[in-house]
Parts: sequence; C-alpha cells; structure tokens
Amino acid sequence: MTGFPLDSIEKASLDELSALQLKRLQSTLRHAYANSPVYRAKFDAAGVHPDDCRSLADLAKFPFTTKHDLRDSYPFGMLAVPREQCVRLHASSGTTGKPTVVAYTRNDVDMWSACVARSIRAAGARPGDLVHVSYGYGLFTGGLGAHYGAEKLGLTVVPFGGGQTERQVQLIVDFKPDIIMVTPSYMLAIADEFEKQGLSPAESSLRTGIFGAEPWTNDMRRAIEQRMGIDAVDIYGLSEVIGPGVASECVETKDGPTVWEDHFYPEIIDPETGALLEDGQIGELVFTSLTKEALPIIRYRTRDLTRLLPGTARSMRRMEKITGRSDDMMIVRGVNVFPTQIEELILKRAELAPHYQCILTREGAMDALTVAVEVRPGLAPDSAAVQAAARQLQHEIKAYVGTTAAIELRAEGGVERSGGKARRVLDRRR
Ligand code: DLL
Repeated sequence: MTGFPLDSIEKASLDELSALQLKRLQSTLRHAYANSPVYRAKFDAAGVHPDDCRSLADLAKFPFTTKHDLRDSYPFGMLAVPREQCVRLHASSGTTGKPTVVAYTRNDVDMWSACVARSIRAAGARPGDLVHVSYGYGLFTGGLGAHYGAEKLGLTVVPFGGGQTERQVQLIVDFKPDIIMVTPSYMLAIADEFEKQGLSPAESSLRTGIFGAEPWTNDMRRAIEQRMGIDAVDIYGLSEVIGPGVASECVETKDGPTVWEDHFYPEIIDPETGALLEDGQIGELVFTSLTKEALPIIRYRTRDLTRLLPGTARSMRRMEKITGRSDDMMIVRGVNVFPTQIEELILKRAELAPHYQCILTREGAMDALTVAVEVRPGLAPDSAAVQAAARQLQHEIKAYVGTTAAIELRAEGGVERSGGKARRVLDRRR
C-alpha cells in the first residue's frame, strides 16, 4: 500500500524554508508585541522592537521567555487574543506552585493537529491504520494532541488514555492496532502485562510505536523494538510550545526528531550565559513559535539539552535525541549524572529489567545515590547471576558515569509504574 504524500515544505529548499520562517517570525513578533502586555513589557525592557528583526539572526536580540513568565501571568496573562477566542486550554502541573496554563485558538489546534499528523506520517503510518493512544487525556497535551493528529491524518483512533494496563492489553489484542502512541516507560509496563497474560508482545498486531514525553535512550529503543517487534520512533514536544509534535523522527532514518521548523524555530544556547551556540554544539534548546495565535512563544527556554543537526530524511534540521533535561540532572558529589546514563548501563545487563529509579539521599554532608532496579521476571534478586549483574552495574556506573552508586535490586513490580511519564529521580535529600 502506498503511503501518505508529504507536505511540500518538508522537501523545500533551505532558502525557501528560511524565507518562510522570517516572514512568519516577523509577524509573530509584531503580534506578540501588539497584543500581549507581557511581551510588550519584556521587549520594551530589553530595548527591542519587532521592527528590529530583519533577519533570522536578529531573533537573538529578543529576550528569553521562561516558565516563570507563564507562572507569573497565571492563568491567562500572556494570551495575545481574548480568552473567548480560545477553543482549548491545557495545563501542566509543576511539582510546586501553580500549573502552567496554555491556550489555543481554532487555528492553533488545526496547526498542532497538522504537526502531529505529519509526525505520525513520518513514523510510517499508512492509510487505514488503527492507532491506539495511551498518552493521558485531559490537561496533559499528550492524549488529545496525539488524538487530533491521528484523526487529521484520517486514521482510526482508539482514545484509551493512560492506566488500566490489563484492559489496554485486551483492547490491543481485540482491536489489532497498527500504531501505539505512549510513553516508552509505559510501553514496557504494557509489554510486561502481555507476558503476564501468557501472550507474546512481539506477536501483537503493532507495527510502529511513537514514543515521547520523557527521555529514553537508543538502547531502550532497541530493547523495545525487539521485545514488541515494532519500529520505535521518537516524538518530542512541550506544552508551552504546543504539545507533542514540535519535532518527530522519520522511520527511514531514526536519527533524531526532525524539528517542524516551519512552525517552531529552534535555537541552542549556552545554559549558563544564554549565548547562542552554533548548530552541532550541545546546549539548551530554545523555541520560538512562528504561527501560533493564542500564546505566541518567543525564545522559550525548554531546559532540555541537545544539539541541532542537518536534515537527512527531510530538509528541516534534526535535534539529537534528548538525553537529559537540566531539571533531571543529579549532581552527586560534584559529578553531573543523568538518569539516561544509568539506563544505558542497566540495558546492557540481561538479568536486569529496564524499570529503574534513581534515589538521592544525604548522609551527613554527602549526597548518596541509590539505583533501584528490577530484576528480570522469573529471576530472584538474591540469585548469584543477579548479584553479579548488580556488581557489574555498580562497577560500570563508577567507570563510565564517574560516581559511586548503591544498587538496590527489586523483584518484578518493585519499581513504581506510572501510566504516563516515569519518575526517574526521587530526591529524598530535603
Ligand atoms: O510531554 C508533550 C508530549 C506528549 C511530547 C507526548 C511527546 C509525547 P510536557 O508535559 O509539557 O509536554 O513536558 C515537556 O517533556 O520539555 C522534555 O523535557 C520532555 N519530553 C517530551 N518529549 C520528549 C522526548 C509533553 N521525545 C517535557 N524525549 C520536555 C525526551 C521529552 N524528553
């Protein structure tokens, strides 16, 4: 069966793309300045005006936007259209304080759906496919974002949402979906449930998984692909920018999400100084929306660390798979540690299951890291093979990550499962 045709901009020349980006950027800056008092005040304080943007490089003159700006103007203070013109609100609950609220006009929802549709198509969707959505529905952007995108592409959607793992398996068996959209950690929980019911996950109808909302490594990709018998691709996004579908991976290359740059303009900055970095250098990812109406977002600091790479399957640039978020970075006795570094090492040990959590405690003045990890189903935590695997893991964490960690082996189900984003770091120092 032939696939869906691409949007022409996905194959456009870089000149054509940057001309479109500049036109849209100028109009976004003007819209934000004219209609959002928060942006007007920020631009005025920085001494810049939308007319100062004559090239894409001029964007660097404009001030950053952070989560604080959104929190400080809670709930609707940053909107650039009257609230009555919005057809949808979403919110992400922070760990402390007020949630971050985002809003969408009808055009915003259409643009977002088109970006998610493009993402699902890039994952290899074919006409007639059935999509099982296990991202949470509700204020989280994952469920409804995936849903509207799949519908826009004309696919059949099963709006399951998160949780109720037994029933997820039942409906996957009965409805025979081709595609699943879910967090990678919850995919593993669903795979476990297949096995618990005596079913082989690799023999399910699924052909493709579109995974995101949390960091996951290429080793995790291989583990999921093998276990589920599917192609696993990475979808990236954040609610402040739109939701899922800011960038997404093409199945033919699986080399990092292509940024849908005709709608979201990426920059990489030095997280300490804010200075712009060249493509290819690792730093903090910053996004400017180019077509949003309700909540134009100018130079939003994502706190996600990655680098920009040239396009391969599309003309637009790619971002390297995100291995860390500055918020998730643990500093253990002066050493920077990301949970994904631990994940890579766990996946190398056949006796360990990829369900893990990093627990930080304080012993006197010293921070201590414990890695709680489950053993493979059917193995006993105190068996010799598992004990040896734990010692090996501890040794490799010291050798490759550079920090001492205690390993706490847990039986199957011993590490908290979430129906959505996994909580990889548990900070018990306070
Ligand atoms: O997680 C949107 C989303 C839903 C993306 C479903 C993909 C799939 P937020 O809840 O606002 O939005 O969280 C955004 O999650 O800044 C990253 O730190 C992280 N994140 C999202 N996608 C990825 C990914 C949604 N593919 C935050 N890889 C972002 C790594 C990701 N981290």
